[in-house]
Amino acid sequence: MINATNAPLDPVSEATLASRGLRLGLVDTADRAAFTTWLRADHRGFHMPEQSDEVIEANLAGLAYRRTTGVWDGSASDAASPVATVNSWVADLTVPGGRHVDAWAISSVTVAPTHRRRGIARALLEGELRTAAGLGVPLATLTVSESTIYGRFGFAAATFSADVTIDTRRATWTGPTPDGRLHFITLAEFRTLVERLHDQQRATAAGQLDGWAARWDALSGAVNDDKDRTKNLRAIRYDDAAGVAQGVALYRVSNGEVDYAAHTLTLEHLVSVTDDAYAALWRFVLEVDLVSTVKTWDRPVDEPVIWQVADLRAVKLQPYDHVWTRILDIPAALTARGYAAPLSTVLEVSDELGFAFGTYTVTVVDGSATVDSTDAPAGLSLRINELSALYLGGVSAAALAAAGRIHEREPGAAAAVDAAFRSARAPWSSIWF
Ligand SMILES: CC(C)(COP(=O)(O)OP(=O)(O)OC[C@H]1O[C@@H](n2cnc3c(N)ncnc32)[C@H](O)[C@@H]1OP(=O)(O)O)[C@@H](O)C(=O)NCCC(=O)NCCS
Repeated sequence: MINATNAPLDPVSEATLASRGLRLGLVDTADRAAFTTWLRADHRGFHMPEQSDEVIEANLAGLAYRRTTGVWDGSASDAASPVATVNSWVADLTVPGGRHVDAWAISSVTVAPTHRRRGIARALLEGELRTAAGLGVPLATLTVSESTIYGRFGFAAATFSADVTIDTRRATWTGPTPDGRLHFITLAEFRTLVERLHDQQRATAAGQLDGWAARWDALSGAVNDDKDRTKNLRAIRYDDAAGVAQGVALYRVSNGEVDYAAHTLTLEHLVSVTDDAYAALWRFVLEVDLVSTVKTWDRPVDEPVIWQVADLRAVKLQPYDHVWTRILDIPAALTARGYAAPLSTVLEVSDELGFAFGTYTVTVVDGSATVDSTDAPAGLSLRINELSALYLGGVSAAALAAAGRIHEREPGAAAAVDAAFRSARAPWSSIWF
């Protein structure tokens, strides 16, 4: 896998920012003082509370592997503090067909409110894309605070997740009764298992990427400033009949002050690697006494639990865009994933930023694509944004054509692309980054 940490600064963005009196620079993450200042600026950018020394310490270690970039304004009164931040790393993204692709993950994009709307984020983002493309990474990926920002850089939403609210009094369990059993576990054991089970689950689950130690530490409450949250966390493990752990869930129960029989159970995380573990953990969550509502988030939009309860309308799913992708190399990206059906089509792709464009034949045989430049007439014309939306198999070409976002030049081309590109389960990520 490509190591991004030491990739040099993008000279174009460096010059653009320098012409405005700003310095683009990489942070040496081994330099405690410099990295701490950067971490605090990043948190301020997202309006997050000041972090304790303990959490800073954990992040100094846990996020050091990322390529960490800042922008400094020498004329600011606190000139040591960056006025903009971004970090990036090469993530392992699962794509349809149980395959994997290197993805340039971008996070911590902030520009200080004192320096907003003067092109700093544009310089950072374009610099990230040039750096990734220069290293041969076939696509970039991020999750977004606002869905209006990244389309201009060629990104599009490729996975969706859902907030879920369940009225447990209507949600009588009708799903299977697995023959394994549940055990309460410590948060420390949850911490160990969630990392292993995530890696097992994501191996074949399109849309997932590899987690990082600091994320699991924060989730399990091992390192976390939100003591109100962590003191209420409880964890549960499902073992199959042979005693092998196949899933874990993390939850807390609150809001019983007015009606003690009507608490809310907040499901913070559920990961399973078998259907049995999934069913057992969900059933547990829905049947906890003194609870009337289960709330959770970042769940798949095709969450099977809606088919495992007596009343479908007991489960409210509110979907939202989650993982955005941006293809940087069309042949590399399209040949990296697997396909569900044969395909022979021509895609004519445009890219305002000039990274990934051209006309290509895409031929799928036995689940694998070959992609070649061509002069042949297009079956579909689309921007790199829409190809990136289609990439993980969770967005329909027919729907994008109906929306006027792509153009079908040959009748049936969108349906043919859909048959080949679709992912058996909706692509999904359980991680924000
Ligand atoms: C979002 C943010 C990084 C933008 O930084 P910025 O330096 O002000 O952005 P720029 O001046 O470079 O703007 C670049 C382009 O994005 C547009 N843009 C910037 N912020 C936007 C927003 N919040 N919504 C929609 N468009 C936005 C600008 O209009 C500009 O468009 P154009 O170049 O096509 O004319 C900054 O407002 C911020 O830090 N917000 C809070 C943290 C956050 O949400 N970060 C994003 C994490 S995913």
